[in-house]
Amino acid sequence: MSRRTLAESYEKIPTHIFPNSGAAAKALAAEVKALIEERAKEGKNVVLGMATGSTPVPFYRELIRLHKEEGLSFKNVITFNLDEYYGLTGDHPESYACFMREQIFDHIDIPKANINIPSGTVPGDQVFAHCREYEEKIDAAGGIDFQILGIGRTGHIGFNEPGSSRDSLTRRITLDRVTRQDAAADFRGEENVPHFAITMGVGTILRGKKLVLMAWGENKAEMVAKAVEGPVTEAISASFLQDHPDARFCIDEGASRELTRVKLPWLVGPVSWTPRETRRAVCWQAFKTNRPVLKLTDEHYNEHGLSDLLSEQGPAYQLNIRIFNQLQHTITGWPGGKPNEDDTYRPERATPYPKRVLVFSPEPQDAIVAMGSTIERLVEQGHDVRIVALTSGSLRISDSEADKFAGTLQELAGVVEDSPAWQSQVAYAREVLKQLEDKGEFGEDTPMLRQLKGLILRGELRDAAHACNVGTDHVTFLGLPFYEQGRYRRFKSTEADIEALTSLLREHKPHQIYATGDAADPSSVSGICFKLLESSLKACHKEEWAGSASLWLYRGKEKPLAAHEIDMAVPLSPMQLERKARALSRYGSLSSLELSSPESNRQNASHYDALGLAEYEAIETFQRWSRV
Ligand code: F6R
Repeated sequence: MSRRTLAESYEKIPTHIFPNSGAAAKALAAEVKALIEERAKEGKNVVLGMATGSTPVPFYRELIRLHKEEGLSFKNVITFNLDEYYGLTGDHPESYACFMREQIFDHIDIPKANINIPSGTVPGDQVFAHCREYEEKIDAAGGIDFQILGIGRTGHIGFNEPGSSRDSLTRRITLDRVTRQDAAADFRGEENVPHFAITMGVGTILRGKKLVLMAWGENKAEMVAKAVEGPVTEAISASFLQDHPDARFCIDEGASRELTRVKLPWLVGPVSWTPRETRRAVCWQAFKTNRPVLKLTDEHYNEHGLSDLLSEQGPAYQLNIRIFNQLQHTITGWPGGKPNEDDTYRPERATPYPKRVLVFSPEPQDAIVAMGSTIERLVEQGHDVRIVALTSGSLRISDSEADKFAGTLQELAGVVEDSPAWQSQVAYAREVLKQLEDKGEFGEDTPMLRQLKGLILRGELRDAAHACNVGTDHVTFLGLPFYEQGRYRRFKSTEADIEALTSLLREHKPHQIYATGDAADPSSVSGICFKLLESSLKACHKEEWAGSASLWLYRGKEKPLAAHEIDMAVPLSPMQLERKARALSRYGSLSSLELSSPESNRQNASHYDALGLAEYEAIETFQRWSRV
């Protein structure tokens, strides 16, 4: 069987892996353009099924570009959106109606009458009729020709949460807890996320003639693999696409990582045994058989489809020792390099010493969460460590924290003796409280509120950095403009961002850089920050410092690095882990995922232990970033 056929035997939905979301969006938009133009020539309409969320944003941007630069007209296009939050009016900033206007409809020439989105405000006793009419309208338009889909962490398409049946139609649904958690940042807190939505059903979606599900970033990888390779099940509504004659997945490399052909390529066909693939296979073999690397035998490799590797690099005894040594050499208590020591087998070079180290944190908590103990060690070992918060992170801070601050300020003015001198502070506090009240629970933060919330987070980072022995003068707040002007899922970076970052790099000329976001959804804050950093480094690549700087990636909100992906493992003692947890406690706004970072550090250690390496309490992990 050819490689493709073997892959297909695992993948029950045709799946195209693109190098990045931009390339996928371009290809899909070109396909839609061709369809629209072909129908226009015939004097016919096209019916498009639209999705919201982060995923379709690059696709919509490309459609807008095609309209503006290549004259693509949407006059013959009718659209039906998949879903809408129940309880939000169409002008609520987080409603999907508002999202669609901002992201596409306001920028193209589609007739307003051709746009259909379920209503979020239809009274409870009319929901059923409204949903039935939505179905009828789709049929009356001739059915959906081209349906765009995203996939949620529950495996939902539209808002068809686990349990949705294959034949379900448009209806009101209760949102899953995971879905509400994922929307928490948009709504400034999980408590503000609506509990219900109106969504097209699985059956409605499957009536579409052509279905394309897009997914970007590693956080989608697990669900993509389950939907594409697993059984068809109500527990993952995207898996129903397996039953459709013209459905496909268009994903980026990050979202492809759990597919068998990517994760276990030797099961699918011949593999080019690069050092990384070899390490992957050996670690997989060890975990699968529950044996440390040094106890794997030729039989283990042969029985699990790795005879190829064995004949190229075996026998097992030698292969095991080689990989064991490689893994062993990733472990270092000297993340900045050990001065005056042979560094042949160390992850980081010994010279120069001390190093100028820049630790980039997309939002002010990311770096401490992922590498607080490594930061502490770098400082302890004499390096000049600077934490750079790339954005203010103001959108993470809830109204109640701003309210608490203003309330305290007012109270303070009431108890200090020299109260006339506090008049301006009192006026400030009053204004903050008034603006909070005026905007209401879901309203947009005013610049004054954003500034205050940013300052609250600044204080938290300073505090947490201090707990890692980084002084206030070594914490930089860059406040990249893209963040200040946007909202989650709708950020747009510009040259101004690259310029700010480039001049910071030129000012500090780092020997070592830590960053994150390479595996993230490209529209997330860390995804955008990573791209910006890549561009800035490219702009400086001819400068001497840039050519020799070592670059390390850490994982923030994304899946932790797997054992074979780790190039540097910094072990933590129980005391160090405790200190890290203390540093994290300085933040008032960490998500449950972020708070569980010490636990994930412990898991890294238990993976290394299982591979037969020394048993540590916890480990922070890094991957070498191949040069841009
Ligand atoms: C939105 C929708 C959802 C999203 C999914 C992924 O209209 O139907 O199924 O596509 O929740 O959301 P993002 O793209 O924000 O990761």
